[in-house]
Amino acid sequence: MKMRITVLPGDGIGPEVTAEAVRVLQTVAVIQGFRFEFEEHLIGAAAIKTLGSPLPRKTLDACLASNAVLLGAVGSPECDNLPAQQRPEAGLLLLRRALGGYANLRPAISYPTISDCSPLRSDIVKGADILIVRELLGGLYFGEPRGLTDRNAFNTMRYSVEEIERVARVAFEAALKRQQKVTSVDKANVLETSQLWRQTVARVALDYPAVALDHVYVDACAMHLVTNPKRFDVILTENLFGDILSDEAAVITGSLGMLASATVGGEIGLYEPVHGSAPDIAGRGIANPFGAIASAAMMLRHSGQLEQEARDIEQAIQLVLEAGYRTRDIARDESDQLATTTEIGQLVMEAVAEVADLRHAYHAV
Ligand code: IPM
Ligand code: MN
Repeated sequence: MKMRITVLPGDGIGPEVTAEAVRVLQTVAVIQGFRFEFEEHLIGAAAIKTLGSPLPRKTLDACLASNAVLLGAVGSPECDNLPAQQRPEAGLLLLRRALGGYANLRPAISYPTISDCSPLRSDIVKGADILIVRELLGGLYFGEPRGLTDRNAFNTMRYSVEEIERVARVAFEAALKRQQKVTSVDKANVLETSQLWRQTVARVALDYPAVALDHVYVDACAMHLVTNPKRFDVILTENLFGDILSDEAAVITGSLGMLASATVGGEIGLYEPVHGSAPDIAGRGIANPFGAIASAAMMLRHSGQLEQEARDIEQAIQLVLEAGYRTRDIARDESDQLATTTEIGQLVMEAVAEVADLRHAYHAV
């Protein structure tokens, strides 16, 4: 097994968390005898500073020549006053479009060992396991025309049947492997794009008789996520709604640092933790690398077809949490072992080795 992986550490805590994800992947490669080749490139504010562009040509070419892209985070307060097209975030949006992945999978799982880290009551979140399927290449993020003058500004929300169908299929296929339930989220009581969304999703659902479909308005969904998250299995929604709802869903897991994502559907998969650059805690060794490490697991699953190895990493994450190791964002009291970003990475590496060993021993019997 050989994989070429482009690593884009990016800004803020991005470099710290991606370093741990890469170390975990290297451990998997050593154990299984895989060849993973990593090549690092600049994106975001880091790229603006040294190369003058949030997505330099060299970075894009490297991504297009690889099997998968692992990204840390983009964004920096230094760039807050730049026009939209020159900001670090513009680099990420250009990259998403160039790679072509239109379905962004964001699992929000309440791990039993940290269910009391959520500000929500543990009886509400315990057992919640949601997959948000966010459309990633359409809607307000990319719709034309768009513009800004001194006196007014506008964006366009636009969706075609094809764009809705393809992401809906990803959601239904995912539901088949889970609890066979899709909740499609829209604002069909107000928006035309949502009316088309709802009709189209309902039509795609006919091809999946085993999957139960319900439609929920986005405002109601925001409320259900924090009052009854267990009512959801797969949530299917458009780009901006998915952006907002996935940060909200992070509350269920205990910390935004826990959330991973995979962008699929294009030629080359893009894997990134959801947390963003968190400039306030960057460089202090306290960032939570679980989201980045879980994104690496998703990379093995979706770009490497290495389901077992992906599960090994996911199980290793659970073992480290069960042993009580926590970064600051998910620590509660003295019974927790406060750990740095690199310590967590090291612990996951060791746990991955342990899990794989046990599996091999089991097969040998
Ligand atoms: C996310 C982020 C991005 C988005 C930003 C950084 C452009 O918030 O991945 O959720 O809005 O999609
Ligand atoms: Mn976001």
